Amino acid sequence: MSRNPDAPLPPNSTIGILGGGQLGRMSALAAAELGYRCHVYAPDADSPGMQVAAARSVAGYEDEATLAAFAAAVDVVTFEFENVPSRTLEILAPLVPCRPGMKALSVCQDRLQEKAFLAAAGVPVAPWAPVASEEDLQAALARIGLPAVLKTTRFGYDGRGQAVLRAPEEAAAAFARLHPKPLILEAFVPFTQEISAVAARGPDGATAVYDAVENRHHHHILDLSFAPARVPAAVADSARRHAAQVAAELELVGVLAVEFFLLPDGTLLGNEIAPRPHNSGHWTQDACQSSQFHQHIRAVAGLPLGTAERHSDAVMRNLVGPEGMAKLLAAQANPTVSVHLYGKAEARAGRKMGHLNRVLPRGTVEQARDEDLLSGL
Ligand SMILES: Nc1ncnc2c1ncn2[C@@H]1O[C@H](COP(=O)(O)OP(=O)(O)O)[C@@H](O)[C@H]1O
Ligand SMILES: [Mg+2]
Repeated sequence: MSRNPDAPLPPNSTIGILGGGQLGRMSALAAAELGYRCHVYAPDADSPGMQVAAARSVAGYEDEATLAAFAAAVDVVTFEFENVPSRTLEILAPLVPCRPGMKALSVCQDRLQEKAFLAAAGVPVAPWAPVASEEDLQAALARIGLPAVLKTTRFGYDGRGQAVLRAPEEAAAAFARLHPKPLILEAFVPFTQEISAVAARGPDGATAVYDAVENRHHHHILDLSFAPARVPAAVADSARRHAAQVAAELELVGVLAVEFFLLPDGTLLGNEIAPRPHNSGHWTQDACQSSQFHQHIRAVAGLPLGTAERHSDAVMRNLVGPEGMAKLLAAQANPTVSVHLYGKAEARAGRKMGHLNRVLPRGTVEQARDEDLLSGL
């Protein structure tokens, strides 16, 4: 007899995770706490997720025979990065429940679809235009103006596949570098802050949204998140409402993050959606009873969601490359800091190796100076 897909997964069930990165690793660790086994599917045998998995499939994402065996071995499938080919979900979806499903994956894989989706969901976005040729780029620049950002529509992360255009003569070289991939031109947003909000949504539509956080980037890679964001309450509420709305309209089952730019007049513009746990939600591991990874697994397993309430303030620092790893010994010796490492062998430049969460009493982030908040990080 086949199982009712809406009933909570019983303990010891197996959750399949597509992708072997740190988000899958931390999801698998949360799943283990909740009494589930994880079967990780990824091309690389020594990936962070594989190291903590109960079962493994080491194969390409379009290997139909291995995908079929994976589907047969798991009770539900999720993914930890949105660049899983849509073909993979097409193969798996008839065989096993996939959470979140195709809609969340396809919208968030493509910046053009993502921008149109955000606008339709009532989230304002900066002016943008698709760019397939140099003529398109000239026309888009004439409409959008400078400065602007030219990005690949797919497979971008940590600022890869992007060029900031400040002068007209920079356009040709940027186009030549990023072409022939499909591109998007976006107006450069003169933001005062970047903030994000993480929302969890269960199969029954129940939603839990964490407090919005302030994010700072270094070389286009997330460096710091401050929880909560130091913004007016109306701005934080608006970010959280947008995240819940986007989750509902994507029919998401799992966790997502929406990244926003905050303008000087208090307007929020949507930047990106990540249909999975997000780096800007790592603070929830130490400052909330249910972390974003627990919520993701709860949603995917059909368990009731936990609370998204923040019992403490937190500052998260990413450990990136060799400079990040140089902070490790001091962080390990600091009792106010939780260290999370991803098991990556080599600290290459720009590579996320782990993160630190500094936990602080509620109200501290609002009041303290940055230099005090960052001590030990
Ligand atoms: N249109 C823009 N205006 C200003 N800054 C931008 C713009 N797009 C991206 N950035 C900066 O680059 C960072 C990374 O870009 P993003 O679009 O989020 O791509 P990804 O995170 O996938 O690399 C953003 O967090 C922001 O700091
Ligand atoms: Mg981003």
